[in-house]
Amino acid sequence: MLNFSFHCPTLFAFGDGEEQRTGELVRRFGGTKVLLVYGGGSIFKNGAYDDAAASLNRAGIPFVELGGVQPNPRSGKVYEGIGLCRAEGVDFVLAVGGGSAIDTAKAIAVGTLYEGDFWDFYTHKAADKSLPVGVVLTLSATGSEASPSTVITHENGDLKWGNVKTDVYRPVFAVMNPRYTCSLPPYQTACGAMDMLSHVMERYFTTTDHVDVTDRICEGLMQTILSNALKAMENPDDYNARAELMWCGTLAHNNLCGVGRAQDWASHQMSHELSALYDSAHGATLSVITPAWMQYVLHRDPQRFAQFAVRVFGCQMDFHHPELTAQEGIERLKHWIRAMGLPLTLKEIGALQDDIPAMVAHRMKKPGGFPFGGFAPIHETDMALILELAAR
Ligand code: NZQ
Ligand code: ZN
Repeated sequence: MLNFSFHCPTLFAFGDGEEQRTGELVRRFGGTKVLLVYGGGSIFKNGAYDDAAASLNRAGIPFVELGGVQPNPRSGKVYEGIGLCRAEGVDFVLAVGGGSAIDTAKAIAVGTLYEGDFWDFYTHKAADKSLPVGVVLTLSATGSEASPSTVITHENGDLKWGNVKTDVYRPVFAVMNPRYTCSLPPYQTACGAMDMLSHVMERYFTTTDHVDVTDRICEGLMQTILSNALKAMENPDDYNARAELMWCGTLAHNNLCGVGRAQDWASHQMSHELSALYDSAHGATLSVITPAWMQYVLHRDPQRFAQFAVRVFGCQMDFHHPELTAQEGIERLKHWIRAMGLPLTLKEIGALQDDIPAMVAHRMKKPGGFPFGGFAPIHETDMALILELAAR
């Protein structure tokens, strides 16, 4: 196990009814004037907006609003939000929604206190201060409610990049009522489950030895995600399945299951390029990329892939041919992806095989470009070959 430090200060108010504490929590963390950030309007249908507004009003906290954040959130809303915070004297940013609203809120909160361009924090600069950010979560997926990450697409060049990670990005609180997620369309439920599964897998496939405790946490999380996602698809109003998924989403990405081990993140890197170019949902790009990546890198450590197959999917271990067990694990994952109604091929997300060189070239624009991936270094040719596998 590697040395690590782990600081996750987010307060979680979890469960049905906890949303009534939103105003009280804003006050507790020093907020006196709020910017409420949200997406395209789902929060008006599922009650999250009314609940948040009522709670802020009860606590006597005034707020201004920034709506219209789109999935794969764009830089334009961040600039708009920074301007609004400065003009209105906002000292607290509250995101109500999914990862896109949260990531925008985080970028605004850091950008408001910075004289330069907020995009600096996505190219080379580590933020050391932020307005406090609170979250009312309506989509179980990204784990952004407790992560030190934010992913924004800069409109100048369609660059979908993550920030330089520091703990100042972690929200101070997250209100998590699983009931809000009952209104999700099946596709978003599925994309969210794939995202959190991938967050665990990016950590699970490691080159570090003796990581038994995090291996077991990862395996428990993955099994819980796989089974409860199917339950939520079958019965969208299943509160318990929604609750399991919501907490899994947080634990999958607050790094509890990733400490002390080298992590991979190659699938996420490639998935961001696909979202940037085709504007497809994050979880859908992951369901296309992940099995192809697994297939491509399996030979580097068949034993670890076999462990995944046995412990997560209950496959029988073939001790003479661990690579066959490993292969079966990939097939079982693909079966689950299909059962969730998610895509497995580039074509299904509107990407053309002929565009593979353009996808690789787009990645070159990112600082650090190639290679990426902690489990297996992915160079330009590797990325092209993985995308070829995803094209079949
Ligand atoms: O925009 P509205 O109208 O709110 O609708 C949203 C949106 O259309 C809808 N939705 C959200 N909650 C709902 C709901 N519809 C009905 N009922 C509800 N309760 O769902 C759609 C997708 O929302 P979005 O916020 O885009 O989804 P998600 O939470 O999956 O966030 C995805 C973004 O987060 C980034 C992704 O790359 C992507 O840009 N990620 C952020 C991470 C982080 N900050 O730690 C880590 C992840 O790996 C990921 O990269
Ligand atoms: Zn993700």
